[in-house]
Amino acid sequence: MKLKDKLQESLSGIMSEELLNKLPSGYSVIGDIAIFRRLNPEIDSYKKNIGECVISFDPQVKVVIEQFDTISAYRKPIISHMAGEKKTETTHKEFNTLFNLDLETITFSPGNKSERCHLIKTVEDNEIICDMFACIGNLSLPIVVNNSSVTVYGMEWNQTALNFLKKNIDVNKVGEQYISQFGDNREITPKNIATRVIMGYFDIDKKQFYVALEAIKDQGWIHFHRLAPRDKLDQPIEIIEKERKISNHKIETQEVRIIKKYSPRLYHLCSDIYVKKFLN
Ligand SMILES: C[S@@+](CC[C@H](N)C(=O)[O-])C[C@H]1O[C@@H](n2cnc3c(N)ncnc32)[C@H](O)[C@@H]1O
Repeated sequence: MKLKDKLQESLSGIMSEELLNKLPSGYSVIGDIAIFRRLNPEIDSYKKNIGECVISFDPQVKVVIEQFDTISAYRKPIISHMAGEKKTETTHKEFNTLFNLDLETITFSPGNKSERCHLIKTVEDNEIICDMFACIGNLSLPIVVNNSSVTVYGMEWNQTALNFLKKNIDVNKVGEQYISQFGDNREITPKNIATRVIMGYFDIDKKQFYVALEAIKDQGWIHFHRLAPRDKLDQPIEIIEKERKISNHKIETQEVRIIKKYSPRLYHLCSDIYVKKFLN
């Protein structure tokens, strides 16, 4: 039975017919916490009932929260508690990787699961990867957990996220392979070392793209994430085009992948950019 039908059946005695139609049709689960994204405000006074229903029929779920936007360059989520234990820390397992995190302070998108899978499958043996927006290891930790020949340098400027990243490196026993670095990626990203650079952030600036190019040794890939209107998927990215024109390196967008629907108008995309450095 679908979630909405289950909720409608459980709450039919206490909600009007009109409001029953406004019940949500899905939630995501991170660890033991169920997350609803922006519920219809008209059903605000029934949030506790909705959360309690989810806990009663989903044995994995101990807590139910609602998540609104994320704010600041740290991408801190705004959440509110709906039902269950009053906790926001959890341990999520995906692709053999344990992620410890606090959903009150850290963004971890379940919708990026396909990208985590794509990276595990795409990365080759002995690669050296720079994850410029590492957070708690969201995109790069599963790569090293699933391939012991790969090395990752993860850059993160939010101390809270970095603390979780360090804890996750420990619990996944990948300390030999994953080097976490605190600070602004514009200043601390290693140069001339990488076969691949992950840029998992939506407000990448010109300097950061330049730093990613500098990180590549000889040749490699930049995974450039961004948001784009659904009807303009092929629109060139200005900072890449500008750099391509002035750079003496080969910079070629070889694939644009849809990662997820971000909002009714926007897609989250990843451009896979191949870079070959000229020797001069
Ligand atoms: C939205 S999270 C994305 C995590 C992951 N890359 C993903 O795509 O799922 C972006 C992370 O980048 C960090 N960040 C943003 N700007 C940064 C900068 N200039 N230097 C280092 N970290 C930065 C934020 O603190 C945040 O933890």
